[in-house]
This record gives sequence, structure tokens and C-alpha cells, in this order.
Amino acid sequence: MNNKTNIVYLNGQYMPVENATVSVMDRGFLFGDGVYEVIPVFGNKLLRLDAHLLRLQNSLDRISLPNPHVNVEWADIFSVLLEKNPGEDRAVYLQLTRGAYAKRDLAINTQYSATVFAMVLHVSPPAIEVVSKGISVITVDDFRWNACDIKSTSLLGSVMLRQQASEAKVEDAILIKNGVVTEGTASNVFLVKDNVLITPPTGRLLLPGITRDLVIEIAKNDAIVVEEREIQEAELYTADEILMTSSTREIAPVIKLNDATVSGGFAGPMWKHVMDLYQQYKQLLREQP
Ligand code: PDD
Repeated sequence: MNNKTNIVYLNGQYMPVENATVSVMDRGFLFGDGVYEVIPVFGNKLLRLDAHLLRLQNSLDRISLPNPHVNVEWADIFSVLLEKNPGEDRAVYLQLTRGAYAKRDLAINTQYSATVFAMVLHVSPPAIEVVSKGISVITVDDFRWNACDIKSTSLLGSVMLRQQASEAKVEDAILIKNGVVTEGTASNVFLVKDNVLITPPTGRLLLPGITRDLVIEIAKNDAIVVEEREIQEAELYTADEILMTSSTREIAPVIKLNDATVSGGFAGPMWKHVMDLYQQYKQLLREQP
């Protein structure tokens, strides 16, 4: 815990994190029955807020949990939170669970209201010099469920898969389901072949990353050819580059995959190109009135 102020939002109120408590009967605690979002903030501007709120709505629809707020209300909550937790680059974490029922019961009872929690994460994107050193990853069997498009707080599968990476002393894992690449443990995967940027299509097998969509958009705008298609595991080994994207990691170049070196062990030219475009996009966002 750093010494920055930590005022959080819980069910309509702002309070120091120490005072924010939730019932042990909360279904988030008992069942992981909830969804969340992580929204990067640059110079007080939320990156792609509308896209994050749309994905939140999709997650809520998928689990049949009504959205307690319209978008302007969410925006108000976030702006108060950001004001109460000043800083430069940060992120907003938002979580909704199905609330605390009187009895432990899997069945949904709509008479209970959601538990709504939000906080500011004092995270800043890693420095370019650090990112450009690249990351090492392993491939692991993606044993998660067939609903990975829901940004669910039930992250046990991801925790177990990330632990496999930690035990192998690498930063992350690329998940493989029935011979095809799905995503990272908390990021999306791109590979580069012959100057084409390739990423798996969205669907039930992976989270539709906001960073993923942004990378696709800025790449296309800069005349880079992008393909959204299934990627066979074997293609990872013949790729010119592999990239992993997320709100907190931004765009990380993979330099080692299992025992194989990727792109000669250095961040490649496509990484540099899209990373430059991404930084320009962020800078424009910062400078917006
Ligand atoms: N995770 N896939 C998974 C499984 C993720 O958990 C994430 C993000 C992504 C990338 O999504 P985005 O570009 O919208 O961040 C893909 C967040 C950062 C987290 O859990 O902390």
C-alpha cells in the first residue's frame, strides 16, 4: 500500500478504504458472482470510457444483473473519485456483485440490490525503456470456461494459470485451447507475420480487450494490415513478433516463448510502430480540454 490518499466508493458513498466493508454474505465473496472493469486514466481523462461502460453493460447483461447507473452517473462517480484521489496516471477499478442475500443460495433473487464498489488504482504504465526489454512467456492449457467474454470477478482460473507462469519464472502465459491461441492471463495476444498484425476474433473464448480494439483501430488508421482470425498454436513459433495488450500493461513485446527466442530476443519494429501510435493517442487524450 502506498501513502497516497485512498478514498473509495461503496454503494453511493465515498469513504476511506479502511471504512469500506462488505457483508460476508455478499455473493461476490461467496460465489465470485460479479463483474468488473479497469479503466486507465491519463491526466484526469479516462481512456475509452464509453467502450469500457459498453463492455460493462455486456458483462452485466450476460449475468442478468441490472445496471444501477446510466453512463453519466458512472462518469460522475469516477470524476469525484479521481478528484478525491489526485495523481497523474491512474486507473479506475469498478466492481459490481449481485449483493448480499440473507441465505446462501445459488438461485438469483432480484429483490436484492447489487454491491457497487469503485476505487482508484495508483498504477502508471511501465516506462518505455522497461517495456522495450520485452517479456518471457510460456504456453499453458486454457482450462477456463466458455464465457471468457464476461469480465467476471471469478478469476480463479486466471490465478492458477498465472501461477504456472510464476513457477516457470516468466512474466505471463499465452493460453491455448484445443490448439488455438485465446489470450494471456490478463491480456490479449497479437502476432505479427510478414507485416500483418493478427489477433484472435472475439467470442466466448476471450475478453474483448479495449486496448486490443484501440491497437486494431490505430494500426488500421496508419495503413497497417490487421487480421482478426483464429491463430494456431504452431504459428506462435514462426511469428515475426508477438505482442500482449492490456489496460495496465499497454503493449508488451514477447521476446521468449517457452524455450524459443521471439523476434531475435528484442522488441521488434511492429511493436515500436504501434507503441508510438499508442503513446501519441494517449498524449492527445491528455491534452484534451
Ligand atoms: N485485465 N483478457 C483478460 C483475461 C483480461 O483480464 C484483460 C484485462 C484483457 C485486456 O483487456 P483491456 O485491454 O480492456 O485491459 C484481456 C485487466 C487489466 C485486469 O484484470 O486487471
